[in-house]
This record gives sequence, structure tokens and C-alpha cells, in this order.
Amino acid sequence: MSAATRRELLAGVALLGLGAGADHLLQQSSPGHTRRDGESDVVDFYGEHQAGVATPAQDHMHFAAFDLATDEIDRLRALLEQWTTAADSLTNGRPSRAGLSDREGSPLDTGEAGGLAPAHLTLTFGFGPTLFDGAVHDSFGLLRRRPRELQTLPPFQGDALDTSISGGDLCVQACADDPQVAFHAVHVLSRLAEGVATVRWTQQGFGRTSSTSRKQETARNLMGFKDGTDNIRGEDRGAMSRYVWVQPEDGPDWMVGGSYLIARRIRILFDVWDAAPLQEQQRVIGRDKASGAPLGASREYDPVDLNATDAGGEPAIAADAHIRLASPTYNDQRILRRGYSYSEAVEPGSGQINAGLFFIAFQRSPTRQFIPIQRRLAASDALNRHTVHTSSAIFACPPGIKPGEFVGQALLE
Ligand code: HEM
Repeated sequence: MSAATRRELLAGVALLGLGAGADHLLQQSSPGHTRRDGESDVVDFYGEHQAGVATPAQDHMHFAAFDLATDEIDRLRALLEQWTTAADSLTNGRPSRAGLSDREGSPLDTGEAGGLAPAHLTLTFGFGPTLFDGAVHDSFGLLRRRPRELQTLPPFQGDALDTSISGGDLCVQACADDPQVAFHAVHVLSRLAEGVATVRWTQQGFGRTSSTSRKQETARNLMGFKDGTDNIRGEDRGAMSRYVWVQPEDGPDWMVGGSYLIARRIRILFDVWDAAPLQEQQRVIGRDKASGAPLGASREYDPVDLNATDAGGEPAIAADAHIRLASPTYNDQRILRRGYSYSEAVEPGSGQINAGLFFIAFQRSPTRQFIPIQRRLAASDALNRHTVHTSSAIFACPPGIKPGEFVGQALLE
């Protein structure tokens, strides 16, 4: 690079980092993407609960898990403060200015969302069990503040977990209607974490596999089935309090209004699935593939009748069908599903698509909700012949905050 070009670059860099024109430059710099004036596509970062749970599921997700690289709790606190400042800007479609005092010269904001609309970006932060673990982060002294519910998930039958893409001390779930906006947010947050936390694993997701709002049409998962029909809707305040938000009687105090996020990367074995006849695929799920109606009924939102029989007097929804074993009737529990499809590079020579469902569920109590449901599914679900769970993680997502507070403040104080 010539000296002149480098000087020009540094001048631009300084502008991005410190100058008053940074916002303007970033908002103009991406021809082809423009802001949609007059229509709000900002989801409020502040509130009683963190955004990204009850929020209508956006089209794309970028998830990142971090491991802490410091023993100083003050540095963790400073990171959470910076992440909060950055999240406030990013979710409003503004470049991040967090970390101002730490950086001289290099751009504070990485720049790739310049000119892009906020795209309903939500950033949802969580704390993993290892953050509280005295053996790992002894000096934090957080062990006594660890929620009873926040335990590494037990092994389930059939698990084939890769530990390098499981667990983590911290997480951020970035969801947006534009994949570049979601990526940018994770990029900026990981940069702010330099020296304090390292990225342990990331997961990109597309094509929401769950509706979380009454206004959304049910999308299809990569097996071609409508997914999310019987999900909890964010507007259903009764169900959200009963099944999703941690209540005062659950404790600890710092988690009240929060929720537990469980992530499972589930690979779909397309060679087996694609070869299965349509009737068998429908038997496995328990629903009609085209309409999404429960077997034995005719429309997508018809109630699931586990006692319905077919013309031969057999149960219309088989004993090992996915929706029977996952149903609230069977489990007396519900969860809020908010997953995304994923597709990754294939292992050379394998000849198989490496794709599936990045399953995310939010709930008030993993020990009463996800764990027993997944135990039943792992033991008997017909879907197990077509899927394999390859990663697993649990995070405690604290409640929302007011302007002036930082994410997780109640835990650290
Ligand atoms: C690749 C893996 C999976 C696929 C392809 C899948 C697909 C589906 C489909 C197509 C439905 C029916 C539509 C609906 O009501 O949403 C459904 C329902 C459901 N699934 Fe899954 N699922 C998977 C994994 C899981 C896991 C791991 C859990 C929880 C441990 C789970 C829990 C549920 C629940 C609770 C329902 C709603 C049942 C009802 O209320 O009728 N699923 N799933």
C-alpha cells in the first residue's frame, strides 16, 4: 500500500472512530441498502424483559458463545457496560461508539452495517453455568448467586455432542431481518470483548423455524414441514408468565423477568429423511406435510387430538410421533421455541448436506420443561431416526434493563 493510500485510510479510520461525521459516513456507505423511512424497524432494547424472546422471530440469527479470559470481575463488568452501550446504538441502526477510550485509530464500529436499516435487530445476552463455577472462575465469587436451574444439561440418549461448539460463559443471540445486520452486531461485540472474552463458537441461522407472534405465518423447516404452529406466542402474556419468564417465587432475584435459553444444534440426516415416503414423514411428525394439520384433522390450527383414530381404528397420531411426545397434553409443560435452520460446509468426500435445525427454546425452568421433554423425545421420538444432536448449551438470560443500567447489573451488584 502506498504511503498516500495508507494516510487516506488512516484519516478515514480516525473519522469512523472519533469524528462527528462517522454516523453519516456509515449510513451512506452501502449503496443498494437503504433505510426505510417512515416505518419503524427498531425493536426497543430496553424494557421489562430482554428483547429477542417475545419479539416476533426475525428472519435471521447470528449466535455467539464466549469464554472469559480474565479473572477480574471489574473487567467483566466493564465488558457488560460496553456491550450495553453498543447494543443501544446497534439496535437503533447507529454505529457503535462503545470502547471509545480504548481505541486510538482503529474504527470503533467495524462498518459493514453502514447504510443498512436496523432490520428489527435484537441482542439477547445470557450467562452460562461455567461463569458461576468456582473451579473455573474462582475469583468472581459468583457461585452463591448461581440459579439452581442453571446447570450444564445432562446427557440425553443418542447425543453426539461436539464440545467445541457447546457451552460457554456468555452468549449473545443476535436476530435481525438482515443477516449482515446480525453478523455486524456479533462482530462489534466480539471486538469489544478482546482481552476479556474470546469467541468459543458461533452459529448462523436462517429461515426462522418458529412463529412467536400471532401475526406471523408459520414457516417451514428444512424437512419441509410447517414448524411453530403450536408454539407459545409473545402476545400471550398468560403463557409467557407461566412458561417463559422467571417469576419471583422461582428466584434468584436477579433472574426475575429473565428466561433460560437452551440451544441444541440438531443435524438432519437427509439421506434417510429424503428417502422416506411422504406418509412415513407425516407419521414421524404427526402432521400433514402440505397443510400442517394434525393427522386426523383438516386445518393447520385444528387442535391436536391425541385420541383421534384413522379408518383402521389405529391412533391417527402414532405413539412415537414427534408432536405426541412433545405435546403439552403428554408433558403438562410448554416451551417457547425460537430456532433457525442452518447449513454448514460439508466434510470433504462425505457427499452429504450438513444442515438442520439450530433449536433454541426459552423457558422458566429447564428442570421442569426442556429436560423432561427432551428425555422423552430422546428415548422414543420417531424423529430420532432422522436427526442427531451435535451441540448443546444453556444460558441464563437476565431480565431487561432501563436506560442507564447495564445488562446483568443486578447479578454483579
Ligand atoms: C430437528 C429437530 C426437530 C424438528 C425438525 C422439529 C419439528 C417440529 C414440527 C414440524 C412440529 C409441528 C409443528 C408445531 O407445532 O410447531 C414440532 C412441534 C413441536 N416440537 Fe419439534 N422439532 C424438532 C426438535 C424438537 C425438540 C428438540 C424439542 C424439545 C425438546 C421439540 C419440541 C416441540 C414441541 C413442544 C412442539 C409442539 C407440540 C405441540 O404442542 O403440539 N422439537 N416440531
